Amino acid sequence: MTEFPAGFFDRADESPDAEFYEVDRFVTHIDGEAIEAVGALYRELQIDGDVLDLCASWVSHFDPTPEHLVLVGMNDRELAANPSASETMVLDLNADPVLPFPDESFDAVTCCVSIDYLIRPIELFGEVARVLRPGAPFVVTFSNRCFPTKAIRGWLGADDRGRCTIVAVYFAAVRTFGEPTVQLRNPGAVGDPLFAVWARKLPGGVAIRPATAADQAIISEMQYAALFVPPGAPPFPRSIIDEPQLHRYHADFATRPGDVGRIAERADGTPVGAAWVRLVDGFGFVDDQTPELGVAVIADDRGRGIGTALLESLLAVVPRCSLSVDERNPAMRLYERLGFARVRVDGEFSAVMLRAGGNGAAA
Ligand SMILES: C[S@@+](CC[C@H](N)C(=O)[O-])C[C@H]1O[C@@H](n2cnc3c(N)ncnc32)[C@H](O)[C@@H]1O
Repeated sequence: MTEFPAGFFDRADESPDAEFYEVDRFVTHIDGEAIEAVGALYRELQIDGDVLDLCASWVSHFDPTPEHLVLVGMNDRELAANPSASETMVLDLNADPVLPFPDESFDAVTCCVSIDYLIRPIELFGEVARVLRPGAPFVVTFSNRCFPTKAIRGWLGADDRGRCTIVAVYFAAVRTFGEPTVQLRNPGAVGDPLFAVWARKLPGGVAIRPATAADQAIISEMQYAALFVPPGAPPFPRSIIDEPQLHRYHADFATRPGDVGRIAERADGTPVGAAWVRLVDGFGFVDDQTPELGVAVIADDRGRGIGTALLESLLAVVPRCSLSVDERNPAMRLYERLGFARVRVDGEFSAVMLRAGGNGAAA
């Protein structure tokens, strides 16, 4: 169980939240540039469908508005004025962090500039994981100002980096979330900085862990699974992964500097996917500082968000890498969504994509 220092969740004003939030506040809590950064992140993550905005008020910063947006907050007049809302609900998440929604009923949950007011975050994050659909994200954004009497002491005593760590620890305490991504979304802003920490609910029963040299056989197996077979074409012979142009990607993995990998496995230890990078002068070579990426999920488990979770976990620690992909491979859309851009096409179909390092702004 995650331990926090004594008094971490205490607040200067311990009176009921309902009294404090009874006052209408039709204000914005961060400046325009930071608000734009929130909307840009939601767009980048393609948040749409059934979305739950926690600690909501009269603006939710979505552009475009999700198809079905449910707001949970404390002030019913503020919620009623929110033009994006499909439904609103007044709930005190500190009095009771149980979310009155069925399991797996949302495509995303958001919480903007409010996480610092929550005194039972681990219970709430567990609830968020329950109501999210597999592969769906919980996106927490925050800046560096707040209502200080209502913020927890642990938050007030931390700096920006420490606050990112606090939110990452909340995610880590709930095993059903993948590794969180932590970013400063508006580097160089003269006004309010906008930090984001988000993670996806892992597909049922799957956990992600770092790859070690003991995982050699898994990485080799995933190298084979990573080969794209165009529709109607026969599968490659298994021996192809021992040919030099593929062997260099997986042989003796996790023994060379720059080898970093993630394994997705079921609770019984059965591997279902892997993502890994290695410095290699291969099909996706860009320069000798940029490792090449390999990623695969076994056929039965594709389309469940495992590939996205693996890549987000790996890219959180290796933001810059390249890859080679057949342009007919639908995985290209996932790569684009995660920040890869095509830099050249070799031959008829072989695109080389580079991820230059996210927004270059990991906190
Ligand atoms: C700084 S405002 C942010 C509002 C909105 N998310 C935004 O981005 O402008 C903090 C919000 O947290 C909500 N809040 C504070 N304590 C809460 C609690 N115990 N339960 C639910 N919501 C809470 C308040 O209703 C308020 O709207």
